[in-house]
Amino acid sequence: MNGRDLVRSIKTVSSAGAAQGLRTVRAAWRTRRADATALPSRGAERARVPGSVQEVETAPGGGIIRFSRSELRVMVAVNGAVFWGWDGASPEPSYALAGRCPEPDPRAFLEPDKEGGWRVVAERVTVAVSRHGAVEVRTPGGVTLRRDLPPRWWEPVGGGTARWMQRSEVAADARFFGLGGRGSGPRLRDGTYRMWNTDPGHAFGPGDDPLYITMPVQLVVADAATHLVFRDTSWAGTVTLREGEEGAGSGHDRAGTSELRMEGGPLRCWVVVGTPARVLLVWASLTGAPALPPAWALGHHHARWGFGSEQEVRRIVSGYQERGLPLDAVHLDIDHYDEHQVFTVDHERFPKLPLLAKELRQDGIRLVSIIDPAVKAAEGNTVYDSGMTEDVFVRDAAGRLVRGVVWPGEAVFPDFTHAPVREWWGRLYEERLAQGFSGFWHDMNEPTSFAAFGESTLPRSARHALEGRGGDHREAHNVYALCMARAGYEGLRELAPEERPFVFSRSGWVGMQRYGGTWSGDVATGWPGLRASLSLVLGLGLCGVPYSGPDVGGFDGSPSPELYLRWFQLGAYLPLFRTHASLRAGRREPWEFGAEVLEHARVALVERRRLLPYFVTLAHLARRTGAPYVRPLWWSAPEDRTLRDCEDAFLLGDCLLVAPVLDQGADRRAVQLPRGRWYDTVTEQVYEGPGQVVLDAPLSRIPVLARAGAVVPVRGDDGALELEVWAPAPGRTGGGLVVRDAGDGWDEPELERYVTRWTGQRLVVEREGEGGTGEPRHPVRVRGLGKV
Ligand code: NOJ
Repeated sequence: MNGRDLVRSIKTVSSAGAAQGLRTVRAAWRTRRADATALPSRGAERARVPGSVQEVETAPGGGIIRFSRSELRVMVAVNGAVFWGWDGASPEPSYALAGRCPEPDPRAFLEPDKEGGWRVVAERVTVAVSRHGAVEVRTPGGVTLRRDLPPRWWEPVGGGTARWMQRSEVAADARFFGLGGRGSGPRLRDGTYRMWNTDPGHAFGPGDDPLYITMPVQLVVADAATHLVFRDTSWAGTVTLREGEEGAGSGHDRAGTSELRMEGGPLRCWVVVGTPARVLLVWASLTGAPALPPAWALGHHHARWGFGSEQEVRRIVSGYQERGLPLDAVHLDIDHYDEHQVFTVDHERFPKLPLLAKELRQDGIRLVSIIDPAVKAAEGNTVYDSGMTEDVFVRDAAGRLVRGVVWPGEAVFPDFTHAPVREWWGRLYEERLAQGFSGFWHDMNEPTSFAAFGESTLPRSARHALEGRGGDHREAHNVYALCMARAGYEGLRELAPEERPFVFSRSGWVGMQRYGGTWSGDVATGWPGLRASLSLVLGLGLCGVPYSGPDVGGFDGSPSPELYLRWFQLGAYLPLFRTHASLRAGRREPWEFGAEVLEHARVALVERRRLLPYFVTLAHLARRTGAPYVRPLWWSAPEDRTLRDCEDAFLLGDCLLVAPVLDQGADRRAVQLPRGRWYDTVTEQVYEGPGQVVLDAPLSRIPVLARAGAVVPVRGDDGALELEVWAPAPGRTGGGLVVRDAGDGWDEPELERYVTRWTGQRLVVEREGEGGTGEPRHPVRVRGLGKV
């Protein structure tokens, strides 16, 4: 134990209560011992590079190139994505892929390239492999987007898992995004980012890395094209990014670089090239369509760790109702469990939970339950007993149960990488449904196990089924929460087949959108935390996870009224709009910050409710196209370099541009506009992009602009859907999509397509159908006319 570990263990022991503190010391020792026995140090290693090309074998979509010390399989798929894998790695098995690997493109094949290399020329991308194993991705026009240098492996001489390193170069003008949920971003600056899902153990700010969701996914935006690269391995690793530099026309550009070092796993990757929209479309076809939340989950949620009783829940709900504030869901944290045990209820403090749930539901408010994976290791706990009977818990290399420490004390962990365990876990949600819960909030699933020193997770040597392949926690750690989300989602599909499951999960991995969304985790209360909230949502969206949002107000401490309000105003435009805070934190109800804040928060809440049909449309579009609801400003203009660097505003779908206030004391702010005409949605003032404008941002509102020509589905005063149409610029056209669904269930709603255009002085709004254009299905309200 080093000095820092010692201090941490003393702190843990003294702050968590003596018994729990001692457990964390014991657990840390157990982990250390288990790993020392089962994972001896690596010893001598032998380095290896591919060597030179010996022979090739063509196969559909590409083929296999054999080097003297490795072989490379290249395959262009029908959806235009490119796969390549070293040492014979193939696309499957993979936790990331949604189904079977896509079919190879029959038109693509390996052909000789210059200087003894080989290439595959496909419709949207060319992949060129040099004779020493460098792999280049080029646009159809021949511009190089990415160059992977020959990889390097380090193999333990006595056998075992090889580490590897892959260095890549990208264009000098390129910007990096992605890598899962990062607090500093969305543009990823020079630095080293770790791939290992981590509970930071304290409220985090932009400087904390890694966080709960890490993904080896990079979205690289450059003048020539956007590309996404995904290294499909769940092992731990780091990526070191360095942006390039342009030599101001001198011809001496310095390429951007990315250096990936992984502790194991296959060296294989997928690359998708195109516009941002196309890249995300193909990405969703590979890793799965985002689950469609029920409409209520797109409203306002109120949570807190420590409501503590049914009376307090009723008090909060009445607080909303008496003030006429919209509320759609209330979340119950671990304090409603019996002694923190998952799938139980503290009947003393929540004696009539099903009744509470029923009454809330009659008022249009749903209950959401937290779900922790750790099960208290105590006989008599029914989940533990049934889990023991079914043998579902993670064991160590010697076959003993792995015991960790979480809220209920000593706990064991289901092995979600095993299908029968997922089925067992999925059935447990029946108890939650019987209690009246409608949604599920997966927490502590990195997985977190408190430790006085070392890492707060399971031992790396802990064994997992990994779908029958067998392996240890080094490989299973990063996909643990993904598999838990699958278990919950699939269980709910069985138990409540008519309803769309609502699951959101603190940790996860590539493909988690198939089962639901996520939230910020314990973002620190403070202006930097507010900024981190936005960067997480944007970054995750670009990795294919479109539904997320922060703890409005921050997790810890007490925000100033101003900070709370600015967070609230931002949250109102993010997919998950939820106030939440820690047991020890101050209040988060909108009326706790004074009359002025209450009135402004009311405006944000009412506006969110008005925009609900738009959010529902965005959810459907995310499912159909992979496009996140919340998009960076460069989404439709990645060639605009100023937009690439703009991190303090975002597009909400195609129609709206939201410019939150992220700085204390600001009542005006600069906004970088993409090209085209934009209207301030409150004043209807017109602005022309591209360029920067300075907009008023009084405490009462954050600037929100509508794109000229946009058709925004909104909820009218009578609750019916209306089309809010923003006048196109003279001589221009516009349009928008509307998907109206029943709020829940699986009926496939029709996608309505509207166009807007001028005929002389008259603005025409029409619905496009198969047989031509027709009248809109909903009342139309035109805005911005006075300013044209
Ligand atoms: C950690 C979660 O991030 C937080 O949201 C929750 O309130 C606590 N666990 C207690 O369950």
